[in-house]
Amino acid sequence: MSATQSTYNYKVVRQFAVMTVIWGIVGMLVGVIIAAQLVWPELNFGPWLSYGRLRPLHTNAVIFAFGGCSLFATSYYVVQRTSHARLFAGGLAAFTFWGWQLVILLAALSLPLGFTSGKEYAELEWPIDILITVVWVSYAIVFFGTIAKRKVSHIYVANWFFGSMILTVAVLHLVNSAEIPVLPPAS
Ligand code: HEM
Repeated sequence: MSATQSTYNYKVVRQFAVMTVIWGIVGMLVGVIIAAQLVWPELNFGPWLSYGRLRPLHTNAVIFAFGGCSLFATSYYVVQRTSHARLFAGGLAAFTFWGWQLVILLAALSLPLGFTSGKEYAELEWPIDILITVVWVSYAIVFFGTIAKRKVSHIYVANWFFGSMILTVAVLHLVNSAEIPVLPPAS
C-alpha cells in the first residue's frame, strides 16, 4: 500500500464512485424506457411498470442515486485531500455507503409497487425517509468531523460548498418530507 493509500480513506470514495456509474446507467435506462412509453403507450406493462410509477423511479434514480453517490464520492475525496486528514469515523463513513445503497434499493422496490407519498421529489414513504435522515446525519458527522481534524488552518473553498449542500439537503428533506399521519376514512 502506498503512503497516500494508507493516509486517506479511498475505499469509500471508490465504492461511491463505482455506484455512481452503475446508478447512472440504471437511472438513464429507466429514462429511455419512460421516453419510449411516451411514444409507444403499449409499453406500459401492468401497473408496476406503468409510466406513472416508472417516472418517479427515474427522477429518484438519477437525482438521489446517481447524483447522491457522486456527491458522496467527490466530497469524501476533496475534504480529505484539502484538509490533509483521513476521513473522520471510518465505520460511520462505511455506514453512509451501505445505508445509502439500502435507501436506493428500497426506493427501486417500493415505487414500482405503488408505495408513494404522492409528493414530487419526496415520494418515498416515511420509513425510508427516516433511514435517509439517519444516513444524512452520519454524512454530516463524517464530513464536518474531517474538517474539524484538518491539519491546515484554512478551510478550502470547495468544502464550504459541500458543507452548504449537506445542510441545505438536510433542511429540504426534513421540511419536504414532513407528513401528518392520517388513517383512511372508516367505511
Ligand atoms: C438517457 C438519459 C435520459 C433520458 C432518456 C431521460 C428521460 C426522461 C423522461 C422521458 C422524462 C419525463 C418527461 C416528461 O414527464 O414529460 C424525464 C424527466 C426527468 N429527468 Fe430524465 N432522462 C435522462 C437522463 C436524466 C438525467 C441524467 C437526469 C439528472 C441527473 C434526469 C433528470 C430528470 C428530471 C429531474 C426529470 C423531471 C423533469 C420535470 O418534471 O420537469 N434525467 N427524463
